[in-house]
Amino acid sequence: MSASSPDLSGRHLLLGVTGSIAAYKAAPLIRRFKDAGAEVRVLMTAGAERFITPLTLGTLSEGEVLTDIFPENEEGSWTKHVTLGEWADLFVVAPATAQTIAKLAHGFCDSMLTATALSARCPLLVCPAMDREMYRHAATQENLERLREIGYDVMPAAHGELASGLVGKGRMPEPEAIRTRVAKMLDESQSVASTLGERSDNRSLEGTSVLVTAGPTQEPFDPVRVLTNRSTGTMGHALAQSAARRGGQVTLVTGPTTLSPPENVEVVRVETAEEMNDVVQAHRETADFVFMAAAVADYAPAETADAKLKKDDDDLVLHLRRTPDILKEIGKHKRPGQTLVGFAMETDNAHENARRKLEEKNLDWIVLNDLTEEGAGFGPSTNRVTLLSREGTSEDLPLMPKLEVAEAILDRVLAARSEERA
Ligand code: C5P
Repeated sequence: MSASSPDLSGRHLLLGVTGSIAAYKAAPLIRRFKDAGAEVRVLMTAGAERFITPLTLGTLSEGEVLTDIFPENEEGSWTKHVTLGEWADLFVVAPATAQTIAKLAHGFCDSMLTATALSARCPLLVCPAMDREMYRHAATQENLERLREIGYDVMPAAHGELASGLVGKGRMPEPEAIRTRVAKMLDESQSVASTLGERSDNRSLEGTSVLVTAGPTQEPFDPVRVLTNRSTGTMGHALAQSAARRGGQVTLVTGPTTLSPPENVEVVRVETAEEMNDVVQAHRETADFVFMAAAVADYAPAETADAKLKKDDDDLVLHLRRTPDILKEIGKHKRPGQTLVGFAMETDNAHENARRKLEEKNLDWIVLNDLTEEGAGFGPSTNRVTLLSREGTSEDLPLMPKLEVAEAILDRVLAARSEERA
């Protein structure tokens, strides 16, 4: 291992290679992983074998190269996608063709590579490589977006000369850049794993009932169109997951998202603010903790047309009406011993506005999202928040994965509650 290279000692890396001319770069990539101390296993699609041989990649990786999901004369290989998925600390698909990206985005599993991706529980990094127009194509861009929503990390293709002679975006990121990204992802996933590991015996919410809201709401104004926002639901899902791990009986009321529900959580799916309000108010009495992380629409169309609105006029004026303020309503009926936590997303006078909301809605805590920071807010898997309490304290938390933000919020909220009781 060279002095400057990241340390991947003992890490298990799965490398998926697909049928792009950039498949030849899988060879130096394996070298770099091995130089950094990683163990590497390689999966190749049939297309990849047209560009580089399993023998080359097997020799460099010093391991078996798997190509066929139904190999002849290989006993026990049928479940290999499962065992490999369990073995891997990280799965890198490099180069990733438009075809494999499309399959991964839609859960196809017709090759060893795609079946293993579906089985794997480790982080997955996709490094696209294709011609300029294929990369630009809306279908590919949508598929890449879908992969990000699923939780995969996607490196943007690099700009430069392409095999077709065209110049543009589509080149596979350089092996060194991929290795750096892999090391960063492994560090991040280790810190999340150790956060959760340290707390695996933390049953601080045992015997309590926890209500969490997440995601956007969708307010229809005709049968096909809605008013909504960009919330992904990640923060609320992370809170529900953390609360369930601590033994809480968790109900997650979520607007439309593409996220999988966390384990051991009762999920109620809703679309509009009105529906969310109905479900939340029905749970109001029994909840010991309420975390209102949903980005509830403040206004909804006053009327919903029965048929799709025609575009006959140049201007369309929609009449909007206020939606119920769900949290304010809970605040009004707050019972002793109940803890209410709201979220605020502010663009100006952030602290003042958040504190005003805390008071107006009778909350115990408000979590202020910092919209000025890259990597915070609606979309990213990380967040940077400030925690403001009813007692007047204010704590800035560093930028970290949303699951860790959720853990930190629960830690603070529970510590304050046990102090109150002491
Ligand atoms: O939209 P606002 O900034 O007031 O949101 C602050 C908090 O109030 C958030 O926790 C949000 O989930 C909640 N809220 C609500 N019902 C609304 C609007 C916001 O419960 N109609």
